[in-house]
Amino acid sequence: MLSKLKYLMPRSLYGRAALILIVPVVTIQLVVSIAFIQRHFERVTRQMTTSVAIEISYLTLQMDNAPSVAEARARLAEIAPAMGFETTFPSDKTEGEDVRSAFDLAGKEVIATLRETLPEVRQIELLSNPQRVEMLIDTAQGPLWLVVDRGRVSASNPHQLLVLMILTSVLMTLIAYGFLRNQLRPITKLADAAAAFGKGQPIRYRPRGALEVRAAGKAFLDMRGRIERQIEQRTMMLSGISHDLRTPLTRLRLGLSLLPEDEETEALLGDVADMERLIDGFLSFARGDAVEEAELTNPQELINRVVGNAVRAGLPVTLGATLGAGEVMLRPVSVTRAVENLISNAVRFGSIVRVGYALTGRSLRISVEDNGSGIAENLRDEAMQPFARLDAARNPNKGGGVGLGLAITQDIARNHGGKLLLSRSEDLGGLRADLVIAC
Ligand SMILES: Nc1ncnc2c1ncn2[C@@H]1O[C@H](COP(=O)(O)OP(=O)(O)OP(=O)(O)O)[C@@H](O)[C@H]1O
Ligand SMILES: [Mg+2]
Repeated sequence: MLSKLKYLMPRSLYGRAALILIVPVVTIQLVVSIAFIQRHFERVTRQMTTSVAIEISYLTLQMDNAPSVAEARARLAEIAPAMGFETTFPSDKTEGEDVRSAFDLAGKEVIATLRETLPEVRQIELLSNPQRVEMLIDTAQGPLWLVVDRGRVSASNPHQLLVLMILTSVLMTLIAYGFLRNQLRPITKLADAAAAFGKGQPIRYRPRGALEVRAAGKAFLDMRGRIERQIEQRTMMLSGISHDLRTPLTRLRLGLSLLPEDEETEALLGDVADMERLIDGFLSFARGDAVEEAELTNPQELINRVVGNAVRAGLPVTLGATLGAGEVMLRPVSVTRAVENLISNAVRFGSIVRVGYALTGRSLRISVEDNGSGIAENLRDEAMQPFARLDAARNPNKGGGVGLGLAITQDIARNHGGKLLLSRSEDLGGLRADLVIAC
C-alpha cells in the first residue's frame, strides 16, 4: 500500500512541496465548506418551512372555523392567493407516500418540518416539479391540494460563495507556486554546480536562498576547494617524484651504454627501460586530465581514429556496432587515451578485439570487447585499482604493464561524470569494458 503511494508521489521536490501545500488546504476547505453549507442550509430551510407552515395552519383554521362549506370556500378563495398558495379540491382522494429526489437534501428537511408542524398534512410531493412544493391537507371540507413556490421553503444554492472560494483558491495557489519556485531555484543551482564539478567542469556558483540551502552551498564550495587542492597536491608530488627519478635513470642508461655489450648489460638496460615505462605510467596517472578542457566532440570520429590507428599498428581491432549520432562534451585526448588503454589490454589477452559505441540522449557508452580470458567477477573491482596486475605472475609472457591502465581509464570516466564497467563479452567470451560518459 505504502509502496504504491510512493509511485504516485511526484518525484521532484517542487511537486512534493506543492502537494504538501495544496492537499491540506483543499481538504480543510472542502470539509469546512461542506459542513458549514450543509448546516446553514438545513437551518435556513427549517426556518422558512416553519413560517410557511404557520401560514398554512392559519388558512386551515379559517376554513375549519367557517360556519358553512360555502363560507369556507369563499375564505379560501380570498386568503390563499394573497398568501401565494394555489389550491384545488381534488376529486379523487387517493393519498400516497411523500416523494422527493434522492439528491434533494433540503427537500428532506422540508418534509420533516412540515410533518412536525402540520399534523393535518397527508402527503408531500416534491418530485413532479422541482420548482414547487405540493401537498395534500385534511380539512373539514375534505382533502385540499395545496401548491407553494419552492423558493419560499428552501434557500437557493450559495453559488457566489462557491465561486469566490474556488477563485481565491486558484489565485492563492498561483501565488504560492511563484514563491515556491523562487525558493527551489537555489537548490537546482546547487545541484547543477555539483553535477558539473562531478564532470570536471567547475562552473561559477554562489550560495543563495534560504539559510539551509546557503549552508549546503557553502559546504559544497569548501568541499570543492579541498578536493581541488588535494588533486593539485597529488599531481605535484607524483610528477615531482617521477621527474626526479628520471635524471638518475638517464645517468644509469648512459653508464650502461658505455659498458661492453653482453647479456648482463642488456638485461640491465631492459630493467632501466621497464623503470622508465613505469615512470611514464606514473606521470600520466598523476597528470590526469586536469589540464584538458572539455569540447564538443563527435564520438564517431574519435573512435574511427582510435580504431584506425590500432589497425595501422597491426593490431586485430575491428569496429563493431555503433548507435546514434551527434556531438558530446568531452575531453578528446583523455577519452582517446582511455580507449587506447582498453584496446591495449584487450589485444594482450585476446586475438579478436571489437570496439563499438552507443550514443543516447543521456550517455555515451564506448565498449571494447575481446575473446581473451576475461576477468572473474570477483576480481573486476580489484583490476581497476591502481597498480593491480591480476595474472602478471601467471602470464609473464603477456607483457604485463604497471597496472595503471584501468585505473587511469576509470579516472577519466569519473572525470566525465561517468564510470568504467567491466563484464563478460556475450559473443566474444572475453572481457567487455564499457566506458560510460554522461552527456
Ligand atoms: N581484456 C582483459 N582480459 C583479461 N584480463 C584483463 C584485461 N584487461 C585487464 N585485465 C587484467 O586487469 C589487470 C589490470 O589492468 P590494467 O590495464 O590496469 O593494468 P596493466 O594492463 O597490467 O598495466 P598498464 O595498463 O598500466 O600497462 C591486468 O593486469 C589484467 O590482469
Ligand atoms: Mg593495461
